Amino acid sequence: MAYPYQIKSIEEYQQNYQQSVIDPEGFWANVADHFYWRRKWDKVLEWNFKEPDIKWFVGGKLNITENCLDRHLGTLGNTPAIIWEPNDPEERHRVITYRDLYNKVCQFANVLKNNGVKKGDRICIYMGMIPELAIAVLACARIGAIHSVVFGGFSAQSIADRIQDAQCSLVITCDGAFRGNKDIPLKSVIDDALIGCPSVKKVIVCTRTRTPVSMIKGRDLWWEDEIKQVETMGNPPCPAEEMDAEDMLFILYTSGSTGKPKGVVHTCGGYMVYANYTFVNTFNYQPGEVYFCTADIGWITGHSYIIYGPLSAGATTLMFEGVPTYPDAGRLWSITDKFRVNILYTAPTAIRSLMGYGLGPVNHKELSSLKKLGSVGEPINEEAWHWFKDHIGKGRCPIVDTWWQTETGGIMITPIAGVTKEKPGYATLPLPGVQPILVDENGKEITGNGVNGNLCIKFPWPGMLRTTYGDHERCRTTYFATYENLYFTGDGCQRDEDGYYRITGRVDDVLNVSGHRIGTAEVENAINMHAGVVESAVVGYPHDIKGQGIYAYVITERQTHDPELTKKDILQTVSRIIGPIAKPDKIQFVSGLPKTRSGKIMRRILRKIAEGELDNLGDTTTLLDPVVVEEIKRGRL
Ligand code: WT7
Repeated sequence: MAYPYQIKSIEEYQQNYQQSVIDPEGFWANVADHFYWRRKWDKVLEWNFKEPDIKWFVGGKLNITENCLDRHLGTLGNTPAIIWEPNDPEERHRVITYRDLYNKVCQFANVLKNNGVKKGDRICIYMGMIPELAIAVLACARIGAIHSVVFGGFSAQSIADRIQDAQCSLVITCDGAFRGNKDIPLKSVIDDALIGCPSVKKVIVCTRTRTPVSMIKGRDLWWEDEIKQVETMGNPPCPAEEMDAEDMLFILYTSGSTGKPKGVVHTCGGYMVYANYTFVNTFNYQPGEVYFCTADIGWITGHSYIIYGPLSAGATTLMFEGVPTYPDAGRLWSITDKFRVNILYTAPTAIRSLMGYGLGPVNHKELSSLKKLGSVGEPINEEAWHWFKDHIGKGRCPIVDTWWQTETGGIMITPIAGVTKEKPGYATLPLPGVQPILVDENGKEITGNGVNGNLCIKFPWPGMLRTTYGDHERCRTTYFATYENLYFTGDGCQRDEDGYYRITGRVDDVLNVSGHRIGTAEVENAINMHAGVVESAVVGYPHDIKGQGIYAYVITERQTHDPELTKKDILQTVSRIIGPIAKPDKIQFVSGLPKTRSGKIMRRILRKIAEGELDNLGDTTTLLDPVVVEEIKRGRL
């Protein structure tokens, strides 16, 4: 596949960027022309950020799987679409060609149809990183069902919340998942979740670990049995459902500063064009290259850059079931050598944790196939950037530090591999079609270079979220009401003298722990559910490996006899309510929290204390009870 819209030089980037600002509709129409549409759009864009109401490729009809599968069969039928590396290096890997993938997706789409799934139905997917997960996702898209993938590290309660919010009618899961030396009992977690989910009529269970599972009569079905049924029917084809460009493709839940996670909605046409455009350009993908993204499909990175971006581009995408440290800290490098990986896209937290093992696990690896490296999910510190550059890229691979969000659908600010001059710690420049703007607290634009502000985007891009599922008002207030006529990202940002962007981190109460997005309010709610807890306040603090750690200040009803045991009980509660990824790293018992006279917790002070900046707490005169601060300072962990 050739990509006529691929940028090859910095001059071409500048030209494209200018054109995308002067004539966004013409620019995106030119890109979208290279996809397969059942019917072309009538109008490229209709929008306002007030309601908000955003429509791309209005009147266009398509199915994203025809773009990811059918259109490649003639030229790439025997080319690997997915290479799958299992958790255990001794187990055989799998290579799934575009033709195989097409067949498997159609087959499973027919399984869904046999089970009554129709266009517009919501399907929850809770699986480990096996090819069947990608197949399930694409099978939903094939028949117009809306997938809601939930990351395997979330608790039964979190799954139940998501299933209820979207009113899912069917769940696709596995008996269990292998991750490192752990065996995670996915089906059992689903069984717990479903106690409160009457909307779910069926559960399809794919075999992986063969952990004992309770299969409930009339509800639970084995994936393999259902496939056999379709085979008995003679494997009929599964024509793709014709979707409107603005029909929903998927929901993905993500945390904000308040309330429960919200279901970010992406639609078919714009998302497809954007995931593809950003994949092809950021990584400068060349036909035949082996591309390896280490993310989990449970996050947006996996959706856009393991499945939809690469497959729509006819790329070979490598999917890894396990973790970077199993069986040893050289695993990612072994995989790189084993499959001659050309592009490696990973997270700063993984790099930092692997750095901790020294160069031993790297030394005997060749890594000579690598051409391009990428980083995503959180700010990358200079030390990690240089380690990645020198020891993995051997000084000859560009690193793309890609800034984006669940809500943006795809990469927004990033160097283009081999084109943009990079600078450690900087996401550098916006991709064509992306119009960033920095504003001050009052929403006034901050112009010029060498400045800091809150990062907003002032013009729509095709991959942006359209709504939050079932609650459009929440979408409006969260993203479009802070500053008039702007999409607010929630991130602070610096624009340096060269006009390069550097993301400085969230300016709201959202934490980024090992690249996982967690709301402080969510963690507080979970802690407060523990018997004996009166109140809590959660803040982030710098953590060497995770980027941010979770620091919780907790008030209990009475002094606990065994504080260490109580801490463990609280951790267990958080695990139960949200999942192990949200467990606080530090819990400090306090007798009070610093509050204003109106009763608001002064998190700024708590943050400073957690960061260890005890002498620099700022103005504390509005505090109701300043003594409490002294106590908290003394008890700091
Ligand atoms: C938040 C979005 C992007 C997909 C995975 C995370 C932070 C993301 C970077 C980066 C600095 C980054 C931001 C953003 N973030 N990429 N390259 N440099 N910060 O998606 O879970 O929706 O989180 O991750 O704070 O707002 P997400």
